[in-house]
Amino acid sequence: MTSATVDFEVHPRLDSASVRALVHPERTLWTPIELRLLTSVTAGALAAPLSEVARFVPERRWWARLALTWGVELWLLSWLPGQGTRPHDHGGAAGSFTVLTGTLSETYRYPGKQIRHAQRATGATIGFGAGHAHEVRNRGVVPALSVHAYSPPLVPTRNYSSLHHIPDRIPPLPARPRSFAELRAQAEDES
Ligand SMILES: [Fe+2]
Repeated sequence: MTSATVDFEVHPRLDSASVRALVHPERTLWTPIELRLLTSVTAGALAAPLSEVARFVPERRWWARLALTWGVELWLLSWLPGQGTRPHDHGGAAGSFTVLTGTLSETYRYPGKQIRHAQRATGATIGFGAGHAHEVRNRGVVPALSVHAYSPPLVPTRNYSSLHHIPDRIPPLPARPRSFAELRAQAEDES
């Protein structure tokens, strides 16, 4: 989708003036606090259409891109019981996630800090800065849905065999700003 001054796109089932305003297409870099607001408001205000968009796939975790701007990516993820991620960081991007339904278990760590565990229940929102790494899994007995946002968008994550192996230095962000067309092509590859 193209506005008069900036490129961005919103999932067709969610597209409205209020959602377009919510993703602030003109904003190039989001803080963790702004990302928290984005995922919590999206989960709260759009619960009904998000539940219609959601799919649960036994073979692998499922996700759908809800919005993409030059400054932020917004995704809906589903988690059947037992599904989860490997330990990973977000490549220097900031992020946030809000649990829409179910409960997610998060094991997380900042460089040089202790590894911590937390249960993220329905309605919980967790914002984080660049050095955060985590492993997220549905260890419950009911499916879970969550809304995730990252800024800058589509920065490659790095996987680890263990959260003990997080490096002391935060990985640098991409040095070259990418065009929206490049971002969109990458997002299509990850969809
Ligand atoms: Fe993550």
